[in-house]
Order: sequence, then C-alpha cells, then structure tokens
Amino acid sequence: MIGTLYRNVVKPVLFKFDPEFVHDRMLAVGNFLGRFEVTKWFTRLMFDYESSALTQEVAGLHFRNPVGLAAGFDKNANLVDILPQVGFGAMELGSVTLEAYSGNPKPRLRRLPKSKALVVYYGLMNIGVRKFVTKLQSYSQHRAIVGISVAKTNSSRTATEEQGIQDYYECLQYLESQQIGDYYTINVSCPNTFGGEPFTTEDRLQKLLAKISSLNIKKPVFIKLPINLTIEEFDALLRVAVRFKITGVVIGNLTKARDPQLIHDHLPADAKGGISGLPTQKLSNDLISYTYKNYGKQLVIVGVGGIFSAEDAYEKIRRGATLLQLITGMIFQGPQLVGEISRGLTTLLKRDGYENISEAVGTSS
Ligand SMILES: Cc1cc2nc3c(=O)[nH]c(=O)nc-3n(C[C@H](O)[C@H](O)[C@H](O)COP(=O)(O)O)c2cc1C
Repeated sequence: MIGTLYRNVVKPVLFKFDPEFVHDRMLAVGNFLGRFEVTKWFTRLMFDYESSALTQEVAGLHFRNPVGLAAGFDKNANLVDILPQVGFGAMELGSVTLEAYSGNPKPRLRRLPKSKALVVYYGLMNIGVRKFVTKLQSYSQHRAIVGISVAKTNSSRTATEEQGIQDYYECLQYLESQQIGDYYTINVSCPNTFGGEPFTTEDRLQKLLAKISSLNIKKPVFIKLPINLTIEEFDALLRVAVRFKITGVVIGNLTKARDPQLIHDHLPADAKGGISGLPTQKLSNDLISYTYKNYGKQLVIVGVGGIFSAEDAYEKIRRGATLLQLITGMIFQGPQLVGEISRGLTTLLKRDGYENISEAVGTSS
C-alpha cells in the first residue's frame, strides 16, 4: 500500500522538483525522524522486515539482512538513526574524503525516468572526514552495519599519483585513529573527479593498496570497482585485491556508457556524470558472475546496480553476491522497497528450498 501511495501520489509531486533539492529535503526529513524514539518506532513499524533466513555473518560482522544502502545517498552521515528502521541491514556512508569538497557545478543530479536511472555529477561532494567523524560519533544505533566509503579529495592538490595515495592514506589513518565504522570501502572508481579515475589500473591500485596495507587495518576492507573496464582490466584489479587480502569487492559504481539501448530519455551531450540504476544492472550482474566464478572463495561480493525488486536482488545473490546495495531503486519505487526486497527474498528462498540466504549465494554461476 505504501508503495502504491508513493508511486501514484508522492513521487509525481517530488519528481516535479529539482532532484538535488528533493534529495536534500529527504535528508532533512530522515534526520528529523531519526531523532525521536516514537518516530523511529513508527518508521520501523511501517517499513522494517525481519527474518532469520536473511541473517549472515560476513567477515566477522553480523548482517541482519543483505540489503544495504549504497554510498552516495548519505554522504555526510545524516541518516544513521533512521536507515535501520527503514529496513536496511547495512549502510555505506560517504564517500568521504580527507578534505571537504563543495561539489561540482549544478546541475549535478538529473533523473532519467524512462530509463529508471539518474545522472550523478556531485564529484565527491562531502564535509570532509573530520566533521564526518564528529557527526558519526553522535549516533548510537546498533541495528545496522556501518560501512565508510573513502575516496580521494576532489582537488587539484591530489591530482598526482603520489598526492592521491597520500590523501587516501591520511583519510583512512584518521578513521583508524577514531575507531569508527564497522568496515571501510575504498572507492577507487568515482568517475567525476579531478584527475579522472586514477586507481583503476593494476599498477596504480597495487601502489595504493601497498601504502594502505602499512596501516595494518583490522576491519574488513572492500574495494568499489568500476563497471566499464574490459574483462582483462577488471580481472587485473581483482588479482591485486586478492594479493593484498582485501575482504571483498563492491560491484560496482556508476556506468560511464551512454548506451542508446538503455537510455530512453533525452540526455544532452554536454550533461556530465555517471549513470545509476537500470543501465548499470547487466554490467554489474555479468561482473558479479565473473568474479564469483573466478574468485568466489577469496573475495566477498557486494552486488550493486539497478536493484528495483526482490527478483533483481535475488538474481545478484544467485550470481554470487553475498551482500547487496541500492539507491536508485529506492528513489523510483519508494522507501518501502527495502522491506519489500527482504520480504520477497524470504519468499524466494522458501520457494527454492533454502533455509538461509547464504545457501543461495552463487547458485546460478
Ligand atoms: C546520488 C548518487 C550519489 C552517488 N555517490 C557515490 C559516492 O559518493 N561514492 C560511491 O562509491 N558511489 C556513489 N554512487 C554510486 C552508487 O553507490 C551505486 O554504485 C550506483 O548508484 C548503482 O546503484 P543503484 O543503481 O542502486 O543506484 C552514487 C550514486 C548516486 C545515485
């Protein structure tokens, strides 16, 4: 019922306004709802879904369900108290960077309704790691796992390889010194940054991870990968991840491809940014299958890109993802999607004779 209400009443109104304006209002509303026990309780009652069939221990962390919020929706840790009540089992906050960045010139968020996609050109806008940590320290929730996505400060001062590596290093070093977050994701694949995507070659990723490994991080560390590389280039990054004993890979980021078969809205040629949602779905799914087949025993896979239903979520699980993340599906379908996916997954697991979600991981690969 909430879904029907969202799609027929709320969404048509929200979609009349500028997407960044709406996103900012949603952050304010979510932050407000997260401040009071009564609003948290009511949100949980309306949206959350619990099932023991969905719980997993992954890399020493307890996930109450596999549905996580992908990085980029809550860049500055505004929603930490409300996201678990909406039904998320995990939230990847950020991407946060060592220094703050006020964002690329507007418009930096566009909707492509016919394509079920967004064009994202924020360029790693965030308040910087020190303010981010201070905010994160003010929360006390324990229902959902908190991941912190770390990226390179978007600035001409971090454009060289050496400066870039140092920037990632100092950001992680600060997070480590504050003992905050359950896991880290190193976002090497943000397509909208100064100096491009510099750590998405074998050689550069290796240098970055060599430096980071000197921090001797004990928490799980994931790497968020791009989805537009050739399979050889992608495989080379996976090999580096395995060599450095990285916990897992998040597959993946926004697509840079402007495939006319997938983009059905008018998109001006000068509209900059990466594309989320349905156009990422097949790219992500194929890479999940590839990774599971070749590195399934060495890397935990977090499947992201174009999840709009429980069936989409289950497809990624069966291809080899242990955990999932989403943003665009929630924007197009409504916040009840998170609980709907959990409920739907439970039904699909039962249909296929599995007692726990972990049994379904990789069954179609
Ligand atoms: C508004 C927006 C901002 C994003 N910002 C980030 C980011 O800061 N860091 C990151 O790793 N990914 C970012 N992403 C990519 C998402 O985490 C995700 O990989 C991608 O959107 C595909 O998932 P979806 O189809 O469920 O949206 C962003 C996506 C959106 C829609």
